[in-house]
Amino acid sequence: MPSIEKFRLVSSGTEAVMSAIRLARGYTNKKYIIKFNGCYHGHSDSLLIKAGSGLQTFGNPSSAGIPEEAVKHTLVLEYNDVTELNEAFKLYADNIACVILEPFAGNMNLVRPSNKFIQTLRSLCTRHNSVLIFDEVMTGFRVDLDCAQKLLNIKPDLTTLGKVIGGGMPLAGFGGKKEIMDCLAPIGTVYQAGTLSGNPIAVTAGLANLQIIQQDSFYQNLIARNKQLTDGLTQLAKAKGIAFNADYVGGMFGFYFLDNIPDSFNAVKQADQQVFNKFFHLMLDNGVFLAPSMFEAGFICSTHTPEVIEQTLEIAKLSFAKL
Ligand SMILES: Cc1ncc(COP(=O)(O)O)c(C=O)c1O
Repeated sequence: MPSIEKFRLVSSGTEAVMSAIRLARGYTNKKYIIKFNGCYHGHSDSLLIKAGSGLQTFGNPSSAGIPEEAVKHTLVLEYNDVTELNEAFKLYADNIACVILEPFAGNMNLVRPSNKFIQTLRSLCTRHNSVLIFDEVMTGFRVDLDCAQKLLNIKPDLTTLGKVIGGGMPLAGFGGKKEIMDCLAPIGTVYQAGTLSGNPIAVTAGLANLQIIQQDSFYQNLIARNKQLTDGLTQLAKAKGIAFNADYVGGMFGFYFLDNIPDSFNAVKQADQQVFNKFFHLMLDNGVFLAPSMFEAGFICSTHTPEVIEQTLEIAKLSFAKL
């Protein structure tokens, strides 16, 4: 990944993000961080605010056990809201250490960034010397071999990776510009360490995974299956007159019981949760285990053959008919 000049291995996505944030603060010597409503960046205190997915499903967007002081330097803005973004940089101009986002959000269902939003983000961070962090823990190697930053044509200053990079084993990491990474101990003064970091078994599994996904047509097949699934679901739902849309990027997909594809967490929340829940259980009862929340993206993997998708669509047809 061209944006990553230096990389450090850790054991979980939470650790990768937590360390990247500390590094951004250490590098800029600034306090505030900007995150977006509905983006999840792991369970460290300062980021567990308006964090989407499982937390939202339980109607508890933050968490017990986090003192107000721990989140007082975390500014939460609406995803894709360029006006709010400009405003935040005006108000906190020289105090924003970093902006962190899921470049394709997957923890509020799948939500894409608009071109204007992502371009504005990059230029504001550059202008104000704030570190732009792409949290690619979910999108990493899932949407493309070079991740979301390639598809969006944006070079973040730091990137966090996790989940699939360990091929099923506990592995994560963060990296980016050398100038920033050199602030990490032992070269620099930002402390970071971990007994299990770079665990050789996890790294071996991760390397094997990287080899597999570089095989010919790996991503083309993934994308073809995702298109088959999302087109199929949309056609079946519309045939029953159900308000429904679906979207996909690489191996990630989202579906929404809505007339439009949503562009923010608030837009996702307009869908009827009862309808999602009913659909989820109808699918589950027939052997299809979707993500158990309408605030989660879904993933296609290489074992999902055309036949598996076809079977899934047959079960979806029955489920839509019962909604
Ligand atoms: C975008 C994103 N960042 C960070 C994390 C945290 O990763 P972990 O669960 O490995 O701590 C997650 C986990 O779901 C995630 O989706």
